[in-house]
Amino acid sequence: MMDSIQLEIRKFLAPEYVFGLDARLKAGNYCKRFGGRRILLVTDHGVMQTPWVKDVERSIEELGMEYTVYSSVSPNPRDFEVMAGAEQYLHEKCNMLVAVGGGSAIDCAKGIGIVTTNHSNILAFEGVDKIDKPMPPLICIPTTGGTAADVSQFAIINNYKERYKLAIVSKAVVPDVALIDPLVLTSMDGFLTACTGMDALTHAMEAFVSNASSAFTDLYALESIRLINENLLLSYQNPNDLQFRGKMMLASLYAGLAFSNASLGCVHSLAHSLGGYLDLPHGECNAILLPHVVDYNFDVATDRYTHIADILGIDVHNRTGKAVRDQLKKYLMELNHRLGIFETLNNLGVQSDTIPFLSDRAIKDPCNATNPKPPEKRDLEVIYSEAM
Ligand SMILES: [Fe+2]
Repeated sequence: MMDSIQLEIRKFLAPEYVFGLDARLKAGNYCKRFGGRRILLVTDHGVMQTPWVKDVERSIEELGMEYTVYSSVSPNPRDFEVMAGAEQYLHEKCNMLVAVGGGSAIDCAKGIGIVTTNHSNILAFEGVDKIDKPMPPLICIPTTGGTAADVSQFAIINNYKERYKLAIVSKAVVPDVALIDPLVLTSMDGFLTACTGMDALTHAMEAFVSNASSAFTDLYALESIRLINENLLLSYQNPNDLQFRGKMMLASLYAGLAFSNASLGCVHSLAHSLGGYLDLPHGECNAILLPHVVDYNFDVATDRYTHIADILGIDVHNRTGKAVRDQLKKYLMELNHRLGIFETLNNLGVQSDTIPFLSDRAIKDPCNATNPKPPEKRDLEVIYSEAM
């Protein structure tokens, strides 16, 4: 029997992206092409210690443009950091943005861009399609292989006072160009490699089971899962091997293209609430929650999860759905352990009486809308409890 294709309307959006060794050195050329005069370079203190920021600064200077650096960006970038960056952008009369960093620096740069043209506090843009005016040109040079903020329609900002992460989802936050250079991944330590790799795997899996998936997003999601299965552990064990780093960078890009267009699911809504409340690494939250969300969703997306399990090398033939589900959960938990991720929510400081609060935040997250099984607040409480 022939497979049927999905005939519901779907679209696919991606920025221009340049992939390959030394892609970062093209930053100056691209700034010139966008009419850059004075550029706000957004990064963070950790990335400032690597050679990558200097390389980008040089490529801007060489073509006669000016820049000013904004590096007050925390992991899980805070609303007031976005506002301070926007003030610097306007005060210094910048006319475009370059972000060099992981998801935090890139999301902060997106936030700065939104605020400088829309003139409101960043908190006003929470939700889907809330941005009226396009932001200034933004070029991204990602330094982690996971978030794919450099190609996505998402920006995640921490509401610091209320201790939660808000998701801004809009076509307006897709960067203009992503310069994706595998060399820069060599500056990631083992823990960051593990967390960002698990973030990428979560993106690909959530996009593949999303109820907004399409033939286009499936293509990227499945190839991403295959690449991660073959290269994440090897890249963790051999941090300077550019083949493994390159394949993980590609996997992250593919997962990013998939989730930017198919959106995400409950792993991310739960992780946003958790990570915002306790200021935890995003990828670590996802890694811990993913097996439990597979458990919750499995019965409504059995075929899709079985397909994923098959790619991960799990024997799915002549096995019941329940057996495949258990094997898939086991695979994910073992992968976490092999990557040095041993925590449970309990160890990270979550107490059972915090769970209703976390679930209250998580149920409002836009990522729930595309989860294959629409959750109630009570379902989210159960998932958190199981990850304790
Ligand atoms: Fe993520």
